[in-house]
Amino acid sequence: MRKILLLLLPVIVMTITSGTTAHAAERDPVKKAIEARQAVMVLRSWYAGPLFGMAKGDIEYDADWASTLANSLKAELDTTDRGMWPEESDYETYPDSSRTLPEWWLDVDGAEEAEKAYDNAVAQIAESAGGGLDALRSAVGGLGKSCKGCHDGYRAE
Ligand code: HEC
Repeated sequence: MRKILLLLLPVIVMTITSGTTAHAAERDPVKKAIEARQAVMVLRSWYAGPLFGMAKGDIEYDADWASTLANSLKAELDTTDRGMWPEESDYETYPDSSRTLPEWWLDVDGAEEAEKAYDNAVAQIAESAGGGLDALRSAVGGLGKSCKGCHDGYRAE
């Protein structure tokens, strides 16, 4: 009996530990969604940053690069964000992870408008960015405004 138990011990231990590991890996799906939408925002910022930099003169204007960056912003809008904004994933419910204000879900029309303004600004810059520094400059303000417009209304400080 004792021998059998000893033989079984590694199996028992393995079963218990693998159970624990599986449990630890089972992360809060809401937090995963929050991380996914934040990743999208990081990407937007990654593409938009050099466009702002070129417009300001901090980075040398490069038509091909500007066009590629703006088209990357546009391409991101064709990807799906389904499931990334579940209800009750707001800043008050998830203060350690989320910075989205509850208004995002309460003021649906306003949020939609902010998204539309962004879509328009992205379409504008995708058309202009490669057409010279002046053309880029004429569109970059609208882009920055549309990011800020949404953050002001729906993102916690
Ligand atoms: C329609 C609304 C909206 C637009 C447009 C928008 N954002 Fe955001 N952004 C948000 C919200 C809401 C959050 C907070 C997400 C969260 O933490 O739950 C956020 C978060 C961010 C973050 C922080 C990401 C992190 O790691 O926590 C960055 C950076 C950012 N946005 C950049 C941008 C840039 C740059 C643009 C424009 C090119 C932009 N956003 C356009 C709503 C928007």
